Amino acid sequence: MQIFQSDILCIGAGLAGERVAVEAADNGFSAICLSLVPSRRSHSSAAMGGMQAALGNSAMGEGDSPDVHFADTVKGSDWGCDQEVARIFVNNAPIAMRQMAFWGVPWNRVVAGEQTYYKGGKPFQAYEKLENEGLIHSRSFGGTAKWRTCYTSDGTGHAVLYALDNRATQLGVEVHDKTQAIALIHDGVTCMGAIVRCMKTGELRAYLARAVLIATGGYGRIYRATTNAVICDGDGMAIALDTGVVPFGNPEAIQFHPTGVVPTDILVTEGCRGDGGTLLDVNGYRFMPDYEPEKQELASRDVVSRRMIEHMRKGFGVKSVYGEHLWLDIRHLGAHHIHTKLREVEDICQSFLGVDPVTQLIPVRPTHHYSMGGVRTNKDGAAYGLKGLFAAGEAACWDMHGFNRLGGNSLAETVVAGMVIGGKVVEYLKGTDRVFKTESMRDAAARQKARIQSLISGAKGGEDVYAVREAMYDALILGAGIFRNGKDLQTSIEKLTAVLDRARRVGLKSNGLGASPELALALKIEGQVKLALCVTHAALNRAESRGAHTREDFPERNDRDWLKRTLAIWPDPVAVKPILNYEPATTVFEMPPGDRGYGGGKIIPMDNPPEAATQAARAQGSEK
Ligand code: FUM
Repeated sequence: MQIFQSDILCIGAGLAGERVAVEAADNGFSAICLSLVPSRRSHSSAAMGGMQAALGNSAMGEGDSPDVHFADTVKGSDWGCDQEVARIFVNNAPIAMRQMAFWGVPWNRVVAGEQTYYKGGKPFQAYEKLENEGLIHSRSFGGTAKWRTCYTSDGTGHAVLYALDNRATQLGVEVHDKTQAIALIHDGVTCMGAIVRCMKTGELRAYLARAVLIATGGYGRIYRATTNAVICDGDGMAIALDTGVVPFGNPEAIQFHPTGVVPTDILVTEGCRGDGGTLLDVNGYRFMPDYEPEKQELASRDVVSRRMIEHMRKGFGVKSVYGEHLWLDIRHLGAHHIHTKLREVEDICQSFLGVDPVTQLIPVRPTHHYSMGGVRTNKDGAAYGLKGLFAAGEAACWDMHGFNRLGGNSLAETVVAGMVIGGKVVEYLKGTDRVFKTESMRDAAARQKARIQSLISGAKGGEDVYAVREAMYDALILGAGIFRNGKDLQTSIEKLTAVLDRARRVGLKSNGLGASPELALALKIEGQVKLALCVTHAALNRAESRGAHTREDFPERNDRDWLKRTLAIWPDPVAVKPILNYEPATTVFEMPPGDRGYGGGKIIPMDNPPEAATQAARAQGSEK
């Protein structure tokens, strides 16, 4: 077996993984990134609308500050986030945006003079100051008091990933693409690397490293309908859970985006609504102001998605052969705006729907989009449970998003967390010796070889892996969709438990040699079903509604009993369910729990609420 060694191994070569690798390489450490696909095809490249950072360069961003950004983020999270982490993020986001500009990101820039912008479908004039000419511009996104989403038209992720990938290449970061990490190498105390399958030849390799980073993105592909790329299938979380000691933080915290297109569920950016697009029903009626008079289409995503479903349940959906949907209208923004600032949206609509958004409505419905949960880490990005293991980006739960992430906060998080956690990894590497235990590596490799052999020989049974995945999709969405309730979650768990049994009896139809996509999936499927069981068990246990976790049978946000984070672990590999533990959502209360100012709903308050403390609390007051 080939053995590779480096100071840091980044599993994932999207924005978070590459940003950490760049920090390490810049400090003289060797870095290898693994990736299922060529790095520039990572899912980060699909992010469209932009990155939030309180630069305050534009007229509509005037008065913005990290404090206002902090207040928006905490409210957006429905007070479910770690406030210390949210503070680290908002303070560093402006630095990261300017750094990305320096590394070559062609941000849209402010043009001085009188400009026409749109809000809620209506044009208005704003004066951009001469002194701001050429500075990084920003657009509006949901749940924010200011326009602060920095963007490069609607291809922000693509532009930033290309710039960062260039930087990684300059610094000698190695990217080993078409590789699948199938297990971590560890001794129950320290993580030492990963066992990896080459997806071109099928050979197994060992990667040894003093620090290992999981940056594999979210677990969206345990759902059938999602905006996520096929590579976002929770690999990183699954191999971390498989160690039995690393917890899955807040698995139940799952975001549904209001505007997946029908029928393909590809994302059309929140930037459409940020730039003035509106949502219409079957009668061409703009319904959001009736539900959310203040924020309208730009309440946070959990709220808009719920309102859309609510409106369709009242009979105002558009019926189609692909199910019910609503309309997104950007026609009034005009051809020039669409051709220049929403050109990816235009391309998606034309190529996948045969719709021209300059003259036609776009069929949309809420669809799965983002995993707030992930590998639980502390504020330095160090995973609970194993020394030397780190996580960053969507794969991680460090936890700045709580129960609802604001649009534009995750793409920004990738480079901010990459910068901050990259620095912590460097500190860790400076204080750690290179000690690898060969028996840990040999054991891990032997286990994976035996697993592959058993799948190929069908020793455990002949279940078809693709059929098992279909069954997982059906069972999960039953209970863990936008609206949840105890009865459906219970049914979902029963079905998923049966699916887990089938996943353990998969046998290949093909010979499993070489590239074998069937083997690639067979190696993931049990882990994916375990993730789905973590989601449903955690959702059933959480007897409240918070952010994107909406329990129809527990409609209140319950700060008294549930201002806490779920930690799911799976110590016994043959068990049929996880163990759920809990910890406080935050230990620092810069901003005490309160009303978000949108979305409605009752709150059961904490018994002894902490004092209103800081600038952030004041910013919240002044921005309401
Ligand atoms: O709608 C969007 O452009 C998505 C952005 C995000 O998820 O942050």
